[in-house]
Amino acid sequence: MPAETNIESHLIEKRVFKPSAEFKRRARISSFAEYERMYRESIARPEKFWAREAKDLVWRKKWDRVLEWKSPFAKWFVGGKLNVSENCLDQHLHTFRRNKAAIIWEGEPGEKRTLTYQQLHREVCRFANVLKRNNVGKGDRVIIYLPTIPEAAVAMLACARIGAVHSVVFGGFSAESIRERISDSGAVALITADGSHRRGAIVQLKNNVDHALSGGTSVKRVIVFRRAGNEIHMEPGRDIWWHRELEYVEANCEPEPLDAEHPLYILYTSGSTGKPKGILHTAGGYLVGIHSTMKYVFDLREDDLYWCTADVGWVTGHSYVVYGPLAAGATTFMYEGAPNWPEPDRFWRMIEENRITILYTAPTAIRAFIRWGDSWVKKHDLSSLRLLGSVGEPINPEAWMWYYNVIGGGRCPIVDTWWQTETGGIMITPLPGAIPTKPGSATLPFFGVDAAVVDAHGAEVGANVGGKLIIRKPWPSMLRTIYGDTERFRKQYWSEYPGEYLTGDGARRDKDGYFWIVGRIDDVLNVAGHRLGTSEIESALVAHAKVAEAAVVGRPDEIKGQAVVAFVTLKGDAKPKAELKTELRDHVGAQIGAIAKPDEVRFAEALPKTRSGKIMRRLLKEIATGQTVSGDITTLEDFSVLAKLREEE
Ligand code: WTA
Repeated sequence: MPAETNIESHLIEKRVFKPSAEFKRRARISSFAEYERMYRESIARPEKFWAREAKDLVWRKKWDRVLEWKSPFAKWFVGGKLNVSENCLDQHLHTFRRNKAAIIWEGEPGEKRTLTYQQLHREVCRFANVLKRNNVGKGDRVIIYLPTIPEAAVAMLACARIGAVHSVVFGGFSAESIRERISDSGAVALITADGSHRRGAIVQLKNNVDHALSGGTSVKRVIVFRRAGNEIHMEPGRDIWWHRELEYVEANCEPEPLDAEHPLYILYTSGSTGKPKGILHTAGGYLVGIHSTMKYVFDLREDDLYWCTADVGWVTGHSYVVYGPLAAGATTFMYEGAPNWPEPDRFWRMIEENRITILYTAPTAIRAFIRWGDSWVKKHDLSSLRLLGSVGEPINPEAWMWYYNVIGGGRCPIVDTWWQTETGGIMITPLPGAIPTKPGSATLPFFGVDAAVVDAHGAEVGANVGGKLIIRKPWPSMLRTIYGDTERFRKQYWSEYPGEYLTGDGARRDKDGYFWIVGRIDDVLNVAGHRLGTSEIESALVAHAKVAEAAVVGRPDEIKGQAVVAFVTLKGDAKPKAELKTELRDHVGAQIGAIAKPDEVRFAEALPKTRSGKIMRRLLKEIATGQTVSGDITTLEDFSVLAKLREEE
């Protein structure tokens, strides 16, 4: 057995949830046989499959070839021309959707706004003219540093309309992160707001921008939207107000027909080392891919009110708050603020009030809700919900069960969707009317996705043996390169198994072929010659009644190679006692086996997370080994967490 790649699995989940007859009756794909047939076709004849999917969109010129693949470079819909904003807006104006809500938004302080497709179209056209007026043209890079407000969607779509390339920077990032992204992308303009509301306070967005730009950058123009009304500095000759600019423009702006391979956006994602990678997505393939997932994975209906809770600064906010839902003519709900403001029931209150039907959120949020207690949920009527989704991390089976029962009322299928910034859209996922789900598994590959789990030699491993997750064929919404660094693109994703895409995740497939993500490969532990994924041990801990969250890391150990260290946060009333540590160790022993028993359990008040909610195991590893924390921590959400963890050493 090539021990250096295979990851052992001990936690076998037996629960299976079949799509209900009620859900199947109205589903677009309503049987497993139908999924299988379409999947087989999409793998055997991908060009035929994707040409058919592409026909859902509006093309100014039809493509000559569906795919040109010169590994690792793919071109999709070669020779075709389209405009993404035309697909998200104009096409709906000729239908009854003209007066349908495109965006329903709520600000953290409680304001509400609704923009119909017609109104959104008008705002996008006007803002596209503002960009033009300020010398932003086709191919120019534009940084967007805005909260999750309708103007973020307006700015993105306006760029897409004129062929400018946007790079959204998450509103929680610092001046330094903005500066780094400007310098890497060579952006000429930046769109921001005075401030944004977060947990009752105002985040000083414009102030951060001023710091980022001090000392000079390629940015010549800063367009500022008035959101929070806080006092700001306006630099003469550089900074202009969004609302003032609108006075000078008209509401007509024809969409620019663009090559399918014209860049749509760059989105920076942090590597574990080195500077962030500018992931480049292009117009045609990206839109075809996400439109297709929107339709099949969320099984959209015309009367859905769909809410993806992601911030627009993440890829999920790009694909499933803005581009996916609007291209599909859906109503997308947007919320600016924190889930626990003013109280921990904010999400449930908005779902009840707006009668939201689809909720797509992250395991980190779900675990926080569990910790805050069911009573916040029980106060509200969530019967409008019909489908739930999860993305961002492996969802622990116990969190899955809570989501299913407490939020979904045992009625709503859960789509646990595995994908990455690099993949552009959902890759491994249940189709809610067709694929039975198992708590903790993202189940089976989406159409056209040739996913496999392989050993060091690239050979597929057997059932329930862990290995590296790779994708063996190109797919339409795949990244095209790392902006400005083709070498890094090759090396990072395509060099380990030439011609095949390395995801960086570890996974196993069970006897039904279902995928179970066991964590990032870099986090895999090697305990006495056994390679263990972090997620199974964490899931075993979270299954204990007193545990809210857990993060497991390895610490060098003379005898075992690595010892297992578990950082654990407890639910509301549980006390961090020494006996509980023993209880938790035994609990993991009983659930998985003695090999996975943590050598050390540490209680923490909170775990260090990235701003998108992923646990930063790298930092915990350093703390567990008593090292000083080094490396990039700019993505850490709450620095005080780190200080507290150190104190507890
Ligand atoms: C992890 C977010 C398990 C995974 C869309 C991946 C998941 C990384 C899941 C990408 C899931 C995302 N189950 N793990 N359903 N979804 N991941 O680029 O490790 O922010 O490689 O994209 O998140 O994170 P990114």
